[in-house]
Amino acid sequence: MHTLTVDLAERSYPIYIDTGLLSVDGLLEKHIQGRQVCIVTNDTIAPLYLEVLQSHLREFSCSTVVLPDGEAHKNLDTLNNIFDELLADRHNRTTTLIALGGGVVGDMTGFAAAAYQRGVNFIQIPTTLLSQVDSSVGGKTGVNHPLGKNMIGAFHQPQCVLIDTDVINTLPEKELFAGLAEVIKYGLICDLDFFLWLEENIDDLLRKDPIALAYAIERSCADKAKVVAEDEREGGIRAILNLGHTFGHAIETEQGYGAWLHGEAVGIGMVMAAELSALQGRISLEDVARIKRLIERAHLPLVAPNGMSDDKFLAHMAVDKKVLDGRLRLVLLDEIGKAVVTSEIEVSDVKKALAACR
Ligand code: NAD
Ligand code: GLY
Repeated sequence: MHTLTVDLAERSYPIYIDTGLLSVDGLLEKHIQGRQVCIVTNDTIAPLYLEVLQSHLREFSCSTVVLPDGEAHKNLDTLNNIFDELLADRHNRTTTLIALGGGVVGDMTGFAAAAYQRGVNFIQIPTTLLSQVDSSVGGKTGVNHPLGKNMIGAFHQPQCVLIDTDVINTLPEKELFAGLAEVIKYGLICDLDFFLWLEENIDDLLRKDPIALAYAIERSCADKAKVVAEDEREGGIRAILNLGHTFGHAIETEQGYGAWLHGEAVGIGMVMAAELSALQGRISLEDVARIKRLIERAHLPLVAPNGMSDDKFLAHMAVDKKVLDGRLRLVLLDEIGKAVVTSEIEVSDVKKALAACR
């Protein structure tokens, strides 16, 4: 088993990564303080993995909430299902919530844990590639609002992250591709060697080779843990983790949550950010071509949604969380492996970057 640490002083926690971890006794239990637990999952994941998880929790008083599946349900209404269950089963402040699922379940469970009785413990058991390499680590939790993606939420760190790499075997291909967008992101923002490794090994990841997957998951988590340890609440450097997200969130919000997968939107968003970086003379056109090639090999779209105008992009981008004093701020690339956050943005260049993805 590989263990990484997210180093945040008194809020530090381990990330466990291995095959078959869901079947290991004793690992999870040591991160549960009280006698009560509440598993939160969804109606796709429950039939696959709920029983094995419950089998480790027999000594606890265990509630279960099964949410409807999908990004379209990542909202305050659905969140209430978790609070209803916690209150009905009289969970107290020592309870531990356990997120068993992808980023949607993880973000919602984390937010419920942040808010229930002003904050209780929670554990992340991510089951998609995307959630294993990104959303389960770092403590960003929340839900969508019709006017903006992830606009309501809290920073709340888990007690531990338990990554069983075997669960990727049941993951639909499209979701695997979406996860690869966030994996490629780490290579682009801070890890040139990893980008080079991905260029060599992306085909192994596409066929779910367990050794390649375990390596990519661990490397991604290590890159993310390092950034989060430096800047837990995104006062500065953490913003680089949002490469492509301002464009991507605009697509997700405009198209309706779930129409484009988060990873698909981030994938093309990173291409738009690369085009804009080249327009500013930060990277070369050869670099852009290389980035596009890798995204394409991951079976991610390179063309923006039909009919989504520049004005629609710009309107959604104006409500991004990185906007400061009304000024758009974007993550761009100074080179492959080095991101920069800048508000030196000409709207005309943004339009040209969008045009390159039409
Ligand atoms: P998801 O949670 O919707 O999961 C994708 C689909 O795969 C769902 O249908 C799910 O039921 C299914 N699934 C999950 N695990 C499975 C498995 N092992 N086998 C079969 N099916 C499985 O999507 P996601 O890509 O995991 O997460 C996207 C969400 O994560 C977005 O809402 C995004 O905003 C959020 N996110 C958050 C952060 C953060 O830092 N908190 C970072 C990145 C993304
Ligand atoms: N996915 C962006 C972050 O965790 O900061």
